[in-house]
Amino acid sequence: MYKIPANTLFVGKVVEYMPSCHSTNDSARELLLQHDTSEGTVVITDNQTAGKGQRGNSWFSAEGANLTMSLIMKPNFLTVSKQFYLNMISSLAVKRVLNDRLPDANSQVKWPNDVLLNNKKVCGILIENGIKRQFLEHSVVGIGLNVNQKSFGLATATSMSNEIGIAFSLQSVFEKLLGQFEALYLKLKAERYSEIKDEYLQNLIGFNQWRKYRSEYVFDGQIVDVLDSGQLKLATQQGDKLFDFKEIEFIWN
Ligand code: BTN
Repeated sequence: MYKIPANTLFVGKVVEYMPSCHSTNDSARELLLQHDTSEGTVVITDNQTAGKGQRGNSWFSAEGANLTMSLIMKPNFLTVSKQFYLNMISSLAVKRVLNDRLPDANSQVKWPNDVLLNNKKVCGILIENGIKRQFLEHSVVGIGLNVNQKSFGLATATSMSNEIGIAFSLQSVFEKLLGQFEALYLKLKAERYSEIKDEYLQNLIGFNQWRKYRSEYVFDGQIVDVLDSGQLKLATQQGDKLFDFKEIEFIWN
C-alpha cells in the first residue's frame, strides 16, 4: 500500500494500488478509457507480472522490492513536436531523487530515457501518449525504479540499495519522486523549456564528449543537443547528424 503524498498539489492525490497487475501502463490506460481519471492519478503495484519496456522489451522487477508505477497526466498544453520534454522531466525527476538519496554516487541520464547509477541502469521509463490534433491529450508515464532489489541477471543493472548497501523506504522514495516530477511538470507547463533542456543536457551521459556509436557503421561522435522531438544530435567528423530512438546504439558504457 502507498499513502497519498503530502508534498504535492495534484500528483499522487489519487493512488490506485494493485497488489499485482500485468503492467501499470496498461492498467493506467484502461482507467483512462473507463472514466474521467483525474490528472496526477498514480497506478502502482508491488508485483508487476508482464512489465513492458521500450522497443517491445520486457521489464522485470522483483516483487515488493522496487517502484513500478504509472502516472496519468493530461499535458494538453504540450504540442506533439515538444513531446520529448515529458521524457526529459521524468528522467530528471528520478535523477534528482538519486542525488538526494545517494549524493555520493554517480547518477546520470541516458538518452532517450534511462537513468544510470554508477554506470548501471537503475531506472527505465516508458511513456505512452494519446494525441488529439497537434496536442497531447493524455500521457501515461511508466517508471520502473529499482530501489531495493538485491540481484539482477544482468551486470548492467542495479538498484539504489545495491550501490550503497542500505534498504530504502519505498513510500519515502515514492513521495520524493512524485514531488520532483510535479515540480518539473509545473515548470514545463510554465513553458520554461530552456531550463529543462539545460538540466537534461548537463546530466546527460556523453554530452560534449567524444564517444563511439553504432548506426550503419561505428563512428566517433559527440552529443551536442537533443531536439524537442527527441532526436539526438551528434557532431561527427562528417558534420552534425540527427538520430531517432532506434537508429543509434551506444557502444560504450
Ligand atoms: C525500459 O527501460 O525499457 C522502460 C521500462 C519501463 C518499465 C516501467 S515499470 C512501470 C511501467 N509499467 C510498465 O509495464 N512499464 C513501465
